[in-house]
Amino acid sequence: MTVETVLSNARIVLADEIVEGSLVLRDGFIAGIDAGTGRIGEDMGGDYIIPGLVELHTDHLEGHYAPRPKVRWNPIAAVLAHDAQVATAGITTVLDALRVGMDEDADLTLDDIRRLADAIEDSVGQDRLRADHFLHLRCEVSAPDCLNAFANFDGDERVRLASLMDHAPGQRQFVNLETYAYYYQRKLKLSDRDFQKFCEKRMDESARNSGPNRVFIAAACQERGIVLASHDDATSAHVDEAIEQGVRVAEFPTTEEAARASKAAGLGVLMGAPNVMRGASHSGNVSARTLASDGLLDILSSDYIPFSLIQSAFFLGDMVEGISLPQAVAMVSKNPAQAVGLDDRGVIEQGRRADLVRVRVDDHVPVVRTVWRQGRRVA
Ligand SMILES: [Fe+2]
Repeated sequence: MTVETVLSNARIVLADEIVEGSLVLRDGFIAGIDAGTGRIGEDMGGDYIIPGLVELHTDHLEGHYAPRPKVRWNPIAAVLAHDAQVATAGITTVLDALRVGMDEDADLTLDDIRRLADAIEDSVGQDRLRADHFLHLRCEVSAPDCLNAFANFDGDERVRLASLMDHAPGQRQFVNLETYAYYYQRKLKLSDRDFQKFCEKRMDESARNSGPNRVFIAAACQERGIVLASHDDATSAHVDEAIEQGVRVAEFPTTEEAARASKAAGLGVLMGAPNVMRGASHSGNVSARTLASDGLLDILSSDYIPFSLIQSAFFLGDMVEGISLPQAVAMVSKNPAQAVGLDDRGVIEQGRRADLVRVRVDDHVPVVRTVWRQGRRVA
């Protein structure tokens, strides 16, 4: 039986223009786009219809599973709570970032991470989820247990993206040791002397592990068809190394130099939506707004605030000269989908999946009113 829905009186955000009219959904796909008022359907009241958002790097799941130190929540309940939050933020495809290799930030074990991945897999299988879920392995290459943790995902076909990160002091995000101390000395509650020793240990781990772990994981991902991302690149030398290892996405470059070199090499440049909304990076790196105005930004990611993704798209489309709403929306839908090879979605176009979001903008805040995944209402 054919299932058809018509959404009429909408402002439909296509890849390069906005059309006022109706959208026809049939059996989970977009079947037609009609300009004008010729079709009768569910009245959208002039609201925007945009493609369902595609999120490549959310850190948000772990917090639902480990909401306090040593507290562990039921992993399925954690996945459901996270899923509900991303879906109501207009995200219909999400790559949940899971840690591979534990750094100073981690309060989780390898088993915890696998338990979360299994809860996602089981929930997809049981059709419990609103968004479409995949995995992003955040590989902390400086960590001694990185490859062990990576092996936990051997043969796991839900993995679509892996990022190679090194958060040791003196590296990339933490070139400035003061920033590192601000983050971790207080968090770890260490005296100056113990913190100094801790930094030496982390720098030594990075010197020993990062090079070989990068090479190993990059080769394994190439073989398995997993897209690779670099993380916090700061210099053109970092970008050269990334290109050499087959990286396709540059996550959170920390300087304009690295963003420019990544863009010139054809990598998708990804920045944090919270950075766009705050007007600055939380760790003092380059501003995503600056990169956007300079035409150096391709993809936005909600990072630690799911709702920031849709906010940042409407903010850039509205406030930054030279960026239209369709271009800004592409940064949260078409571009991330393309970057990880999900060519069946990310654009409102005949034949694509009917992953859609109805949005009304009130006082510059996008209000998510309805979300459909493959034509089915999920939020
Ligand atoms: Fe980072």
